[in-house]
Amino acid sequence: MSKALQPVVRGGLLLGVIALLGTALLAGVNYLTHDRIVAQEKRRVLQQLNEIVPVGSYNNDLFEDVIEISDPEFFRHPAAVTVYRARLDGKPVSVLMIITAPGGYNGDIRLLVAINTAGTILGVRVISHRETPGLGDPIEAEKSDWVFGFAQRSLHNPDGSGWAVKRDGGEFDQFTGATISPRAVVRAVHTALLYFQAHQQELFDTPSQAVIRNE
Ligand SMILES: Cc1cc2nc3c(=O)[nH]c(=O)nc-3n(C[C@H](O)[C@H](O)[C@H](O)COP(=O)(O)O)c2cc1C
Repeated sequence: MSKALQPVVRGGLLLGVIALLGTALLAGVNYLTHDRIVAQEKRRVLQQLNEIVPVGSYNNDLFEDVIEISDPEFFRHPAAVTVYRARLDGKPVSVLMIITAPGGYNGDIRLLVAINTAGTILGVRVISHRETPGLGDPIEAEKSDWVFGFAQRSLHNPDGSGWAVKRDGGEFDQFTGATISPRAVVRAVHTALLYFQAHQQELFDTPSQAVIRNE
């Protein structure tokens, strides 16, 4: 190699090593934070879940009794639905569905919907969203009572067209100047109820960790 080229090659090699180190560092940080984020979401879900389904009402380990549903058409979203099954001495008590509602003002809204074996909603909580503060964010339990209005509802309460916001002829309030966020949540909760009604047995009988596919 000519002397003139040596510094160029050395510089190139050095740059390559720096790029490799940078990539490795990023991958490492990603790996470490991913686990932390998963653990945080799990803690948050469990906390919200225990607000809705009292600890004493089930005695199985929810995180070990979980399945997924992949049915993008029914849920109008490609994300899988996670379903935790609550049981008391082995008997089904309720399902806790984590669903992704499409059609928020600023994208997806992740929801926890708890439904008991009678098909009655025990409660709904918004797990994450990017709706506008002061407009769409009253869907959060921390911001308003609105989401508590789903408790005790079912496919018969209200029935049919009642499962919509008032602006669309239904029973659920929208917010002042913000109909899109509550509409997305009402639709997704209704979809969860419809799925539960059609698949209740399968939801409880499917072995843990399995995926129910309808793609
Ligand atoms: C900057 C901005 C942010 C908005 N954020 C939301 C939101 O987060 N949720 C929502 O439902 N509507 C939001 N809106 C209002 C919607 O565009 C839409 O007008 C409204 O949902 C329709 O409600 P209405 O039928 O009560 O007027 C936002 C509007 C603007 C201009």
